Amino acid sequence: MRKILIIGASSAIAEAAARLWAARGDALFLVGRRAERLEAIASDLRVRGKGLVECLAMDACERQAHAAMLDAAEAALGGLDVVLIAHGSLPDQKACEASVDLTLQEIDTNALSVVALATRVAQRLEAQAHGTLAVISSVAGDRGRQSNYVYGAAKGMVSLFLQGLRNRLSKAGVQVLTIKPGFVDTPMTAAFPKGALWAKPDAIARGVVRAIDRRRDEVYLPGFWRLIMLVIRHVPERIFKRLSL
Ligand SMILES: NC(=O)c1ccc[n+]([C@@H]2O[C@H](COP(=O)([O-])OP(=O)(O)OC[C@H]3O[C@@H](n4cnc5c(N)ncnc54)[C@H](OP(=O)(O)O)[C@@H]3O)[C@@H](O)[C@H]2O)c1
Repeated sequence: MRKILIIGASSAIAEAAARLWAARGDALFLVGRRAERLEAIASDLRVRGKGLVECLAMDACERQAHAAMLDAAEAALGGLDVVLIAHGSLPDQKACEASVDLTLQEIDTNALSVVALATRVAQRLEAQAHGTLAVISSVAGDRGRQSNYVYGAAKGMVSLFLQGLRNRLSKAGVQVLTIKPGFVDTPMTAAFPKGALWAKPDAIARGVVRAIDRRRDEVYLPGFWRLIMLVIRHVPERIFKRLSL
């Protein structure tokens, strides 16, 4: 039985991962900003599993609430084995181009709040010399594109931050996992037309759980995105800037 904290637990991907962990009998502490939604998810998980399921409402951008949230999770679970940070928002890129405030708010949600949480989680996992920090970044962070570079820049920051953190925490035996999904059919992407490259949250969640079990460093989900992004990263800038991606 592992003690698992999920931040952004109302995300479709996180909820699907929580169902897998609940079925294994793991103990879960769910954090999200909508108390009612969290309680509904927790009730479902209690039916599916044998382990403890608790929840706490918190907006991830409220940095002053992070330490108390982590204390509450550790106290309820009796420690921390796995922390999954899953929250995020998909900005309206055009609206961001017209608003500095909106751009910075989206960077806060998708990057600064994650960096703040990861820093505090890292202190705890490093001190206890075991555990896993898993964070959902995105393939969008691998290269800036005109259609979503505010989101991409935030996710790119998260990926680079985790790379350094992994380098540091590996000495303490702590796993730091960067999760890079491609297109996933969740409420975040409800308005997008779906095609062959799209995956369901259940499949992504299985990949997340597997990558944690196997103590991976970085995972593209589904795996074919590693190849797609390898190609996209290597298109020369003089060609890339002419494309409408
Ligand atoms: N869907 C994709 O194609 C895709 C691709 C690559 C990466 N990702 C990443 O995957 C992660 C999960 O997203 P998803 O696809 O599962 O979409 P989702 O179901 O829409 O989940 C996004 C979650 O983030 C939460 N959230 C947003 N801002 C928050 C805040 N300030 N404080 C607390 N929670 C907040 C939302 O909470 P509410 O329920 O309260 O709104 C929602 O539960 C995100 O980090 C996303 O960037 C998604």
